[in-house]
Amino acid sequence: MSQVTEYSSKVMDHFSNPRNVGEIEDPSGVGTVGNAKCGDIMRMYLDIDENHVVRDAKFKTFGCGAAIATSSMATEHVKGKTVEEALKVTNKAVMEALDGLPPVTVLCSLLAEEAIHAALWDYATKNGITIDGLKPPVNDINETEEFYQTQG
Ligand code: FES
Repeated sequence: MSQVTEYSSKVMDHFSNPRNVGEIEDPSGVGTVGNAKCGDIMRMYLDIDENHVVRDAKFKTFGCGAAIATSSMATEHVKGKTVEEALKVTNKAVMEALDGLPPVTVLCSLLAEEAIHAALWDYATKNGITIDGLKPPVNDINETEEFYQTQG
């Protein structure tokens, strides 16, 4: 993807009119992660059915516009997917679906992916299942390896 310097119309749309904001009562899984650099946090709620398919996803965040837009798009992407497929919804794919984000906001965009992973971890732990490739959640996205890989 070429370097993006401003917000695309898709980013502006998902920022101004975010999908899936709120919380799910009695969620199958919930995960909270923070960005220690800016102090913002993201909480993700998942409702998962008996076939391990994500029925609904909602988020709440104190994060910036980039965090809101990526969470809006990421929640749209995970709905209807199995937990294994939901795990593969990367922030790179979400950023591409938004027609890119300025590099300075890459870390903000990771909040959505990591909060989804944390919610999946919560779901897997509560139900005693293993989701292939799922790692224990981080509290702070600055700890993630992906962050360093996406900085290149
Ligand atoms: Fe905190 Fe973007 S500045 S999430």
